[in-house]
Amino acid sequence: MEQLSQLVSELRSAQCVTVLTGSGISAESGIPTFRDVQTGLWARFRPEDLATPHAFHQNPSLVWDWYSWRRDMVLQASPNAGHIALVELEDWLVKRSDSFYLITQNVDGLHQRAGSRQVVELHGSLLRSKCSSEGTVFDDWPKGHGSPPACPQCGAFLRPDVVWFGETLPEQALQTAWKAAQNCDWFFSVGTSSLVEPAASLSSIALQNGATLVEINPAETHLSSRAHFSWRSPAGQALPVLLLALFGDQGKLVP
Ligand code: OAD
Repeated sequence: MEQLSQLVSELRSAQCVTVLTGSGISAESGIPTFRDVQTGLWARFRPEDLATPHAFHQNPSLVWDWYSWRRDMVLQASPNAGHIALVELEDWLVKRSDSFYLITQNVDGLHQRAGSRQVVELHGSLLRSKCSSEGTVFDDWPKGHGSPPACPQCGAFLRPDVVWFGETLPEQALQTAWKAAQNCDWFFSVGTSSLVEPAASLSSIALQNGATLVEINPAETHLSSRAHFSWRSPAGQALPVLLLALFGDQGKLVP
C-alpha cells in the first residue's frame, strides 16, 4: 500500500486500537466467507434462509446439519497469518499499557485459537451449543445423539450458540463493542462487507468520535470511501506486512 509508511508512523502513537473482523479474515484459513459459504450439497440454500429462528423451527435437522458441516470445516482449519498478526498487535499495545479490543462477527473461534485473549464475540460461537428452550449454554456439541440432540436438562432441541437473523446480540458483547468503538483512536475494519447491523455501525461511531479508520479488504465496500486508509489486500497478507513495518526485524510473525 502506497501510504504504508504514513500509516505506520501515525499508528506508533496509538493509545486505543479497536479491530472489527468479519469472515474475510478466515478466508485464508480455507473457510469460505459468510456469503460465499455454500458449496456442494448446500449450494442450493441461501445462508440468510438457514440462519434464522424460523428455519430452525421449520426444519431443525436441516439447520443443525448445516452448522454441523460448518463446524467440522472450522475444526479442520487453522488460524492464518492475519489472525496471528492481530495477536502480535494486542501484545504490542498491552505491553505499552495501551488498549486493544478485538470485536468479531465470526463464530469460528480462530482468533482465540491463534492466541488473542480479549475477543468480543458479537454473533456467538458455533463451537458451543445451547438449549433452544431455556437458553442454557454448553461448551461443546454432544456427539452422535440425534440431529439436533436433546438438551440433557429439559429434553428440548439443542441449537448452535450463534446469533440468528432477527435475534438480539448478546448485551454485554454489544456494550463492550460500542464503548470500544467510541473510545478508540484507531479503528480497523478487517474482512467484513460491513452490511450487517449493528456491527456495521461500529465504524461510523468510531469515525464520529475522531478515530482514524483503516479498512483491510481485497474488495471495495461502502465503507472504503470513508476510510482514511483503504488497504485492498487479503488480511493474511496485509496484517503481517503492517506488523513487520511496525516492528522491523524484531517481529515474530511466523504463522
Ligand atoms: P461477508 O461474507 O458479508 O463479507 C466478507 C468480506 O470479506 C467481503 O467484503 C470480502 O471482500 C472480504 N474478504 C474476502 N476474502 C478476504 C481476505 N482474504 N481478507 C480480507 N477480506 C476478505 O461476511 P461478514 O461481513 O463477516 O452474521 O458478514 C457479517 C455477518 O453477516 C456474519 O457474521 C453473519 C451475516 O449476517 C450472522 O450470521 C448473524
